[in-house]
Amino acid sequence: MSQPIILILGANGQVGTELQRSFGNVGKVTACDRQRADLSKPEELRALIRQLRPNVILNAAAYTAVDRAESEPELAMTINGDAPRVLAEEAAELDAVLMHYSTDYVFDGSKASPWVETDATNPLNIYGKTKLAGEKFIEAVGGKYFIFRTSWVYGPHGHNFLRTMLRLGRERDQLKIVDDQFGAPTSSIAIADATRAAVTAAMDGQPEYGIYHLTCGGETTWCRFAREIFAQHQKRSGAKAPEVSGIPSSDYPTPATRPANSVLSNKKLQSELKITLPEWQGALVETLEKLQD
Ligand SMILES: NC(=O)c1ccc[n+]([C@@H]2O[C@H](COP(=O)([O-])OP(=O)(O)OC[C@H]3O[C@@H](n4cnc5c(N)ncnc54)[C@H](OP(=O)(O)O)[C@@H]3O)[C@@H](O)[C@H]2O)c1
Repeated sequence: MSQPIILILGANGQVGTELQRSFGNVGKVTACDRQRADLSKPEELRALIRQLRPNVILNAAAYTAVDRAESEPELAMTINGDAPRVLAEEAAELDAVLMHYSTDYVFDGSKASPWVETDATNPLNIYGKTKLAGEKFIEAVGGKYFIFRTSWVYGPHGHNFLRTMLRLGRERDQLKIVDDQFGAPTSSIAIADATRAAVTAAMDGQPEYGIYHLTCGGETTWCRFAREIFAQHQKRSGAKAPEVSGIPSSDYPTPATRPANSVLSNKKLQSELKITLPEWQGALVETLEKLQD
């Protein structure tokens, strides 16, 4: 296919912004923000897709406010569950490829090693339940879909842990950060570039569609991630790093429970799609470079 029509949803989010960069010179891109494509109105979304007739749908829109979802479960389910079902139905009708993102929070964190795609899901919070519903709806429709479960997303744009830490580092000398949740920080840059590689694979051949884990390599805790952010930032800018001490999750209660271990194995992504994301520390350095540009 020479000039695929590519539709990006959630264009102003962390991943959506990077998808616009990564797909800048691929095909004919239509990037929609919430005003143009509102996932809380799935039937309007259906009409938009019928009008645009994309070959590839990149769904970076989602209800991502993990704690707020506990008090807005219906809205979260419409955006994270019902809208992806409509996307899958319309993609199947058009024989288009659907790229959808899901989360490490579909797991309950009880496993001692990295989670693989076939492990049993058991989300601990409403956000995870609604994202899992989206996965199940897409799987039930079938067709050419990739569901990429990613984790701990941060990047140069949007609301994220990296930007929050840099702000807090300017305001405070000491920080207390949760040190008993394990995961892999994954940059929006790496996600978008891997998505582009997967789209290329889909355009060039018959890839194995389905669910994939797509995260940066390695693992850490929020506390160690924060320390690495300040160390790298200090190296680059000379800015004084605050003292970061670790606390248990029980000392930082939140409305939504988080899994203790949500490290995902990327082996399937590497073996089936030949896609490897960078180690999380390298992706952090790349993101800090972009932030300072
Ligand atoms: N962030 C994480 O740590 C994380 C972890 C695991 C998985 N994921 C998944 O990765 C994907 C991308 O997440 P992200 O980090 O890029 O999230 P993000 O920065 O919060 O962006 C989400 C985007 O969705 C849009 N959105 C929210 N409600 C909408 C609606 N009703 N209609 C249309 N757009 C709507 C937001 O629009 P506004 O800009 O108007 O608010 C925003 O642009 C999501 O599927 C998410 O579940 C994220």
